Amino acid sequence: MTTSTTSTGPDSVPDWQDRSAALADDLIAAGKLTSPQWRAAVENVPRHVFVPRFYLHRDGRMVALAADDPDTRQEWADTVYSNIALVTLLDQDENSGPVFLSSSSTPGLMTRMLEALDVHDGHTVLEIGTGTGLNAAWLTHRLGDKHVYSIDIEPDLVDTARARLAQLGYRPTLVTGDGAAGLPGHAPFDRIIATCSVPSIPWPWIEQTRVGGRILTDVRAGTNAGNLVHLTRTASDRAEGRFDAHSASFMGLRHTPGSDTRIPYTRSSSDSPTTTSTTTRDPQTPWTHPVVWFLAALRIGGRYQLGYTGNPQDGPPRAAFITTPDGSRADITLAPDDRGRHDVAETGPVRLWQHVEHAHQLWDQAGRPPWHRLGLLVTRETQTIYTDTSDTPLATLAATPST
Ligand SMILES: C[S@@+](CC[C@H](N)C(=O)[O-])C[C@H]1O[C@@H](n2cnc3c(N)ncnc32)[C@H](O)[C@@H]1O
Repeated sequence: MTTSTTSTGPDSVPDWQDRSAALADDLIAAGKLTSPQWRAAVENVPRHVFVPRFYLHRDGRMVALAADDPDTRQEWADTVYSNIALVTLLDQDENSGPVFLSSSSTPGLMTRMLEALDVHDGHTVLEIGTGTGLNAAWLTHRLGDKHVYSIDIEPDLVDTARARLAQLGYRPTLVTGDGAAGLPGHAPFDRIIATCSVPSIPWPWIEQTRVGGRILTDVRAGTNAGNLVHLTRTASDRAEGRFDAHSASFMGLRHTPGSDTRIPYTRSSSDSPTTTSTTTRDPQTPWTHPVVWFLAALRIGGRYQLGYTGNPQDGPPRAAFITTPDGSRADITLAPDDRGRHDVAETGPVRLWQHVEHAHQLWDQAGRPPWHRLGLLVTRETQTIYTDTSDTPLATLAATPST
């Protein structure tokens, strides 16, 4: 595992306040930051202290930019104060490439979420996913030490974040553990914000939010399949709310530190029979129809791989594919025939493309709702996705196991 532990004081980037102010201006211009309180947090917390080393995808591999590397230091400082996400912890695997375990999220997404959380003076907030500690620093700048709690599954990240926060005079309560269980010893909270995604809402989060309080998280059924949802605990036995109008995505919550959440890629057995059919649906549905793909992924079960066939050096891809670890696979040709139909070849125990067809039908019947017309109603027993009102259900989420 590759981690970053280098400590960088605020003064190591002498003009950081100018850079922070410029970043805040950029976020305001982009419509991602409006309130004076959060602007003050962005301006007064030096982001570079939280990301002394990070990794960028470049020419097909991950390269490190670091404060203590003379060759990359200038680019490091320029990138830290720009509106991009920075990978800070990754697992390198020679065979299947890097897996991201932690990152400092895009500043504009962080401010958008914090503003949507509708925090007021005196509120107590629990953050799931401490990561670098930057979001905890902004929250602590806004609310004060006693009102901010943050938990991460990675002990080293929590220790490092605590030291960075203390260096700046911030002392929120940081805990190592599985955030799926919340922090029962410190509940209730006015707000819970998760900066990792969940397949469904862990019930402890509802129980630990005051009635009237809010929860903001990314609900994600698998790759490309999910979005932020804004929930309010409307009564002791439920929480309810809408998905965000704009797409955002976070890495998944994992129940053990450093664990590998990769989905194994399984080749279909060459002797399993192939079923062929045609479709008029978009073969690139996982990339072009986010709500449809979310509904399909709920049916497929979340453990799948997506991609395009062929080698980029040999020209444009010929087909899109979906595979699952049980050996099921669907290949859908990208180019339509002269009647607008695409060939579908399915093999293995599950006809994966049929789930996509079904999701398209469901979505059509519901009036093709965009994300913000989708709601989520959470009770202890069920989690229901609906269109507009909870009496028009579309799908259900499987329960997230808690520790
Ligand atoms: C996108 S990063 C969080 C960024 C962070 N808020 C910041 O300001 O840098 C997601 C984090 O979720 C953490 N995480 C994953 N599973 C978790 C769990 N079960 N409980 C708590 N944190 C978890 C990861 O270790 C990772 O640090």
